[in-house]
Order: sequence, then structure tokens, then C-alpha cells
Amino acid sequence: MPDTAVHVASGKVREIYELGPDRLLLVASDRISTFDVVLPTEIPDKGRVLTGLSAFWFATTRDVCANHLLHVRPDGRSTECRRLEMLPLECIVRGYLAGSGWKDYQRTGRTSGHVLPDGLRESDRLPEPIFTPSTKALEGHDENIDAAAAAALVGEERFREVERVALELYRVAAEHAAARGILIADTKFEFGLDQDGTLVLADEAFTPDSSRFWPADEYEPGRPQPSFDKQYVRDYCESLGWDKTAPGPELPEEIVAGTRRRYVEAFERLTGRAFDDYLANPECVLR
Ligand SMILES: Nc1ncnc2c1ncn2[C@@H]1O[C@H](COP(=O)(O)OP(=O)(O)OP(=O)(O)O)[C@@H](O)[C@H]1O
Ligand SMILES: [Mg+2]
Repeated sequence: MPDTAVHVASGKVREIYELGPDRLLLVASDRISTFDVVLPTEIPDKGRVLTGLSAFWFATTRDVCANHLLHVRPDGRSTECRRLEMLPLECIVRGYLAGSGWKDYQRTGRTSGHVLPDGLRESDRLPEPIFTPSTKALEGHDENIDAAAAAALVGEERFREVERVALELYRVAAEHAAARGILIADTKFEFGLDQDGTLVLADEAFTPDSSRFWPADEYEPGRPQPSFDKQYVRDYCESLGWDKTAPGPELPEEIVAGTRRRYVEAFERLTGRAFDDYLANPECVLR
């Protein structure tokens, strides 16, 4: 149990503690969820990969947008952060057509209100990255919404600011990742407001849980892509014919090891640091 912190909530992946009126401690567990169901098997060190990668990206993008990070603890999985008033939006940016974006496009020719060119294939790169927010469902699955619905939730001006900042964060990270052989197909952010009403990037950023990471050297549109993210586990679970309701299936040892290997490889490629160096000194990713 972390010092005198008071436990306030459990997310699917994180335990949330209060450190004071305006500070939280987010502890990333090794739990993994697919299709919004937490699986009974953990992936060793996954929480450390998510914490370290997020810290790396917070440091890398601090000129684009303020973020909630105050300190990463020596355990490598605990983040001290500013407590924010979270916006009721999942802020998704898509650079490529995959997942629910691809499903919506096949049905309607658009995704979240964005009209897209005809004839796009699965995994095709979009002409421009697009902002496709969704609601933060308290229970069940998030729902894609269009710009008007998102603006109704947070206000027109704030919506425009969030869209501009999310697209710029994506641009900066996608460029960095591409130089290291990883395509960021899409990614999700959560933003909050501080006491002054300033927009602050929170939660996790550009991790394999919040993003689709594709190896650039194997990229080939017209089919699903191999990936460094949860897709590997999703594919395994689907191969069992699981109905995607709780309880989820146990993962066999080789799927656990394969998932851990992919998470660690994404960390090492993106940060340019050995994961063992992070374990020895988590603050190394902040430089
Ligand atoms: N700076 C912050 N201030 C207040 N709340 C935050 C802050 N950063 C993150 N959060 C919230 O903390 C929680 C993080 O926990 P976790 O990611 O496990 O939850 P989850 O979103 O239910 O799971 P999943 O990511 O699988 O959807 C989220 O509800 C997120 O909105
Ligand atoms: Mg989350």
C-alpha cells in the first residue's frame, strides 16, 4: 500500500489514490483488458511499460500541451500527478483506418462525421489525421460521436482547442515514432482542466493500451496489421470463440510472454532506452 495515500477508485488498469486535495497517485497494475473486460491473467511489468512510456511522452510533448505529471516513483509504476477536472470525452486521433473507424467507414463511408474518400482499404493511411472523439461510458463500450455532439458536451471553444491540441500531439508523436520504425495508427487521450481552467493532458499517453502501434517495415494496407499492442491478445481471445462478456479467458504462458515482449519492444524502440535501465532508474525517460 503506498504510504498514507487514500484509495479512491479502481480503473480497469489503474488504482487511484489521493495524495492531497490537488494531487493523485496513479498506480498502473499488470492487468490487461480486451473488449472492456479485464482478463484473469496479468502481463508481468505491463504497468511499468505504460508508466514509463507515458512519462517519456509527457516530457517529449510538454511544449505542445501542459500535462499532469509531477513525479514517477522508483517502483516504475506509480505516477504522482495533478488532480484535474476530467473532460467527459475520449479524445481519439486516427492517422490510419482501423478498428471502429474502419467499421464505420465500411458501413457509411464516413467515420464520426468525417467524410472520407471512396475506395479506402483496411489500414490505409488517411489523407489527414482526423479527430474522432467518443463518449466516456461509465459502463460498457464508449460510443463514437460527431463534432457537434462533442461540442455540446464541453462547449464549442473548448472542443476546438481539444481538437487542435490532440492533432498536434499526434503529429509530434507520430513523427518521432515513424523515425523509430513504428506507425501510430490511432491513439486516445484524456484531458482535464486545472483550477485556472487550463487544458492539461492527463491519464496515459501513446502507450500500447491507448494506441495501435504497427511495425512500419511490415505495413501493408488491405489487411489487418501485426502490432505491438493489445491486438495480439484480442486475436488470441477471438480465436477461442469467446463471447466478449466477463469472465474473460485465461492466457496461456506463450501469449503472456509474447505480449510482454511486444510491450517491452515498443517501449525500447520509442524511448531509445533499454527497459532494464528504466527499471533501475525510472526518471531516465524524462531527459
Ligand atoms: N490527472 C487526473 N486527474 C483525475 N483523474 C484522472 C487523471 N488522470 C487520469 N484520471 C482518471 O483515472 C482513471 C485511470 O484508470 P484506468 O485507466 O484504469 O481506468 P479506465 O479508463 O476504466 O480503464 P481503461 O483505460 O481500460 O478504459 C481514468 O478514469 C481517468 O479518467
Ligand atoms: Mg484508462
